[in-house]
Amino acid sequence: MTAKDTSTAFEDRMLSLGLARVAEQAALASAPLVGRGDEKAADQAAVNAMREQLNKLDIAGVVVIGEGERDEAPMLFIGEEVGTGNGPGVDIALDPLEGTTLTAKDMPNALTVIAMGPRGSMLHAPDTYMDKLAIGPGFAEGVVTLDMSPTERVEALAVAKGCKPTDITVCILERPRHEAMIAEVRGTGAAIRLITDGDVAGVMHCAESDLTGIDMYMGSGGAPEGVLAASALKCMGGQIYGRLLFRNDDEKARAAKAGITDLDRIYSRDEMVTQDVIFAATGVTGGTLLPGIKRMPGWLETTTLLMRSKTGSVRRMQYRTPV
Ligand code: FBP
Repeated sequence: MTAKDTSTAFEDRMLSLGLARVAEQAALASAPLVGRGDEKAADQAAVNAMREQLNKLDIAGVVVIGEGERDEAPMLFIGEEVGTGNGPGVDIALDPLEGTTLTAKDMPNALTVIAMGPRGSMLHAPDTYMDKLAIGPGFAEGVVTLDMSPTERVEALAVAKGCKPTDITVCILERPRHEAMIAEVRGTGAAIRLITDGDVAGVMHCAESDLTGIDMYMGSGGAPEGVLAASALKCMGGQIYGRLLFRNDDEKARAAKAGITDLDRIYSRDEMVTQDVIFAATGVTGGTLLPGIKRMPGWLETTTLLMRSKTGSVRRMQYRTPV
């Protein structure tokens, strides 16, 4: 197998069903570990299954957002070649288990997540933090920006939505580093949905605010998760902005290795994901976007969100399999 670009067109329609299977299998593999208190085992099961399924696809894939750098992650590391090698050259961003702690504790919104696009379509984000800001579709570009204060963001979104700041709900990761932001947002009268983990889902919630009740996501989390969230919003609609954050020289070196020279750059959604992509996520634990894995005597059932940015199509697919 080689990840040479075979110059076959990126047939996103045909590939999307295969991508759904990859997300489903990773979720099914983690099913026995939901609520079992073992994050590592749950993650490993999802990684193994995702890799095995991915290698069955007729693609010449390269993991650009993965489990870590080659020396840290034995499987699905950044740069790993995946697929049979017979097919289009594609970039892959994945998180076999987004929300390992959520899974181990059986808390809401753990997902398996994977996105695929033509070679060169995705930002090679280093494994650092990223400051993120996201809203759903239907607003003018730049109505909220990373350079605004949290108060300005809430007020600008309220004006754009034609409502009061008290009608806005913001999703934020509950972390000590976000205490000042949380206090400021509370000062505007807006509501906050605090989440303990899983900011890919947090961002995606903005795209279906009628369903989820969330209007805006803000705060810092993993940069790789930022690219995955940008892939999702490219399909669902909505805006996301991200700026890499560096805590030390090692993290800056990681960025340099990934080819990033402007360390202060703010990336828009379409700068993180520059071409049309496909995206699949399967619910592991139940949440507002997707139900989790259902166990019935002799059966397991999953629900997968499968989306294509080219058409804006969003499918929710149920899959039942005997066990
Ligand atoms: P894992 O699934 O790897 O545990 O990551 C979960 C997560 O909550 C991400 O969604 C988020 O981007 C990141 O961790 C936040 O990092 P930290 O826990 O260091 O604040």
